[in-house]
Amino acid sequence: TTSVDNTASAIAHTNIALIKYWGKANEKLTIPYTGSISLTLDKFYTKTKVTFDSQLHADKLFVNGTEQTNLKKAARVLNRVRQLADTNSFAKIESENFVPTSAGFASSASAFAALAGASAAAAGLELDKPALSRLARLGSGSASRSIFGDFVEWLPGDNDENSFAQPLENVTLTDIAVVAVKVNAHQKTISSSEGMKSSAQTSPYYAEWQNVVNRDIVNLKHALTTNNFSLFGQISEANAMRMHALTLSSLPPFTYFEPGTLEVINEVQDLRAQGIECYYTIDAGPNVKILTQTANIPLIKDQLSKQFSPTKISVAHPGPGIEVIKH
Ligand code: PMV
Repeated sequence: TTSVDNTASAIAHTNIALIKYWGKANEKLTIPYTGSISLTLDKFYTKTKVTFDSQLHADKLFVNGTEQTNLKKAARVLNRVRQLADTNSFAKIESENFVPTSAGFASSASAFAALAGASAAAAGLELDKPALSRLARLGSGSASRSIFGDFVEWLPGDNDENSFAQPLENVTLTDIAVVAVKVNAHQKTISSSEGMKSSAQTSPYYAEWQNVVNRDIVNLKHALTTNNFSLFGQISEANAMRMHALTLSSLPPFTYFEPGTLEVINEVQDLRAQGIECYYTIDAGPNVKILTQTANIPLIKDQLSKQFSPTKISVAHPGPGIEVIKH
């Protein structure tokens, strides 16, 4: 084995799942039971710098300047990079999240995509985007999609080689905005990994979920390639609720919803009744992302501001894929 002493950085943006990934066929390799589709967002991103240093005795990880003690997921990415680059050097990782606290977005997708891009480049590997997507996937499934911009599909595959994301082609629906509403949250108690494991093992609806996702993917692609915003919104909203139905039907049952989650859902239904077209989607937490088109943003913000402070509302649009910076 050789040692490398190299540095690289990468910037990756977060993404919101429209067709959700919820369940691992292979936990070690993060192979999902189903495909998923997401939209990469412009506003929220992670910038990560990786330095491989033969003097280090262990990997070191700093997030927003604070040293972290749990490096389990990061190690899955770094160990694969070391294996590919044939090195045994440890790495120093300095990661900054540009995800405003008001947004209520999880940063794991952008974080592990940025880590994959920076660590591969720092180790001198020249990986193409599918390979970077596979590498990011080892840290967090949703990160496989943050390698690419705009609309992205994660092809589930059934092994490490064929489970990666790719950009969706022939998309004609381009006017999309996301209004994120942060709901006052208790500390999250069930991680997405634990939650999806419980759902896959105990929800009597899990087998049907897999069929439904396959249909939802076909229909969402149709909406995206025919510029049909209504269909796009209806399918995304339904798919999100179908995922959350898996949590409610698990044993023991659980939910990520909080009272504020339902309040935002009600607001969206109210807005629609007023003829303002918008739909909601929710990930493994209480915050709600409203899917709409640019012209509706002021009206939606207005309506929400009656119940939610403006500091809890942020707006995003489609964003770019990963950017790798060699030093
Ligand atoms: O990538 P993870 O392990 O954080 O899981 C993501 C799960 C959801 O956000 C709920 C769905 C998705 O496809 O991103």
